[in-house]
Amino acid sequence: MTALLDTAERMSRDELAALQLERLRATLRHAYGNVAHYRAAFDRAGLKPEDCRSLADLARFPFTTKADLRDNYPFGMFAVPEDQVRRVHASSGTTGRPTVVGYTGKDLETWADVVARSIRAAGGRPGHKIHVAYGYGLFTGGLGAHYGAERLGCTVIPASGGMTARQVQLIQDFRPDLIMVTPSYMLTILDEFERQGVDPRTTSLKAGIFGAEPWTEEMRREIEERFAIDAVDIYGLSEVMGPGVAQECVETKDGLHIWEDHFYPEVVDPLTGEVLPEGERGELVFTSLTKEAMPVVRYRTRDLTRLLPGTARVFRRMEKVTGRSDDLVILRGVNLFPTQIEEIVLRTPGVSPHFQLRLTREGRLDVLTVRAEARTGATPEQRAAAAVSVAAAVKDGIGVSVGVEIVDPETLERSVGKFRRIVDERP
Ligand code: DLL
Repeated sequence: MTALLDTAERMSRDELAALQLERLRATLRHAYGNVAHYRAAFDRAGLKPEDCRSLADLARFPFTTKADLRDNYPFGMFAVPEDQVRRVHASSGTTGRPTVVGYTGKDLETWADVVARSIRAAGGRPGHKIHVAYGYGLFTGGLGAHYGAERLGCTVIPASGGMTARQVQLIQDFRPDLIMVTPSYMLTILDEFERQGVDPRTTSLKAGIFGAEPWTEEMRREIEERFAIDAVDIYGLSEVMGPGVAQECVETKDGLHIWEDHFYPEVVDPLTGEVLPEGERGELVFTSLTKEAMPVVRYRTRDLTRLLPGTARVFRRMEKVTGRSDDLVILRGVNLFPTQIEEIVLRTPGVSPHFQLRLTREGRLDVLTVRAEARTGATPEQRAAAAVSVAAAVKDGIGVSVGVEIVDPETLERSVGKFRRIVDERP
């Protein structure tokens, strides 16, 4: 196994820390010297890059937020001349301008390396065929996965998202070993297998690398059983790179190892911004260590998780992301994440994993309705029992009353990529 690891994966913690500090200081100098935003932000804080003498000193530096990126739309956060930028991607902000990110040729190499490392951690090997059903385009999922798979020496099937019947045909005919796709779209593909009368457990697939949205252990079990594959988690965000910032190892499936030689993680209290000790839950913050075109310093991801020591690799792990602060629903004073509902729905007999959360307003009260599809063949009695059981589990486990509707199979909207779990119909 060790022979398969690359140099950084074989470092000791001390060697890694020394490399991180050297790279961190270079990143701060690069950002300060070449991006007006960082120069102004460091100056306001009365700090120079040289003030970072240890990894802990990073906590003194100011955060960067999505709003900072938007304010510098489109290319104001770039630290290199525009003609050195080989590619741009953008994340489709739900409101207003998208966030634009850029990569030099070297950044694209680094990105391919970390995705190759991720695929290897998921069990991918040179010579494997990989079906990529993340969307290709401005979204980082498709192209990010693609070049990583090629870098590892795999054959890529660049299916992109959508045209689900064709996805099933390609999987049948081309016999890929791995699939890379959002977990919610994997469920759509699962339906299509069943619609075509093909047993999804009989495909050539051995593993799936799922990410771009939160998903639970219950969803892992569902996908693993229905497809007879290993399901592992991949994490990333455009602002920091794209997919391949952190990856779960197939041999342990115990959270995601952060590729810390390129991305330095902190977890902070979302309200005070104070750095939290390892093991405490809070907001994940990243500083890039090797990026040229768009270095990020203490970028606030809004993703909630905690840091844990490494297991299968020397790098620290992050726990599966339970949600982003953006997805938090506050219902009559109670905090709720869609993943908490996912756990309950997937544990309930008679209901399929397809569900949506509908937010409406009655008078001055917000009302949440869980709409979940019945499994094919569920009897009216089973459906009624499921509705009662979901409502009770939400009340007991989360502490709030919600409405539950068990709808007919194949009536809810299906995911083709990142799925919108919450339909907000409030005025
Ligand atoms: O979603 C990059 C990506 C593509 C990751 C494919 C993995 C696979 P963005 O569109 O910028 O980039 O969205 C980033 O998606 O801040 C999280 O909120 C969420 N996210 C990404 N991966 C995971 C994951 C890509 N494994 C945002 N678990 C992030 C939970 C995830 N949430």
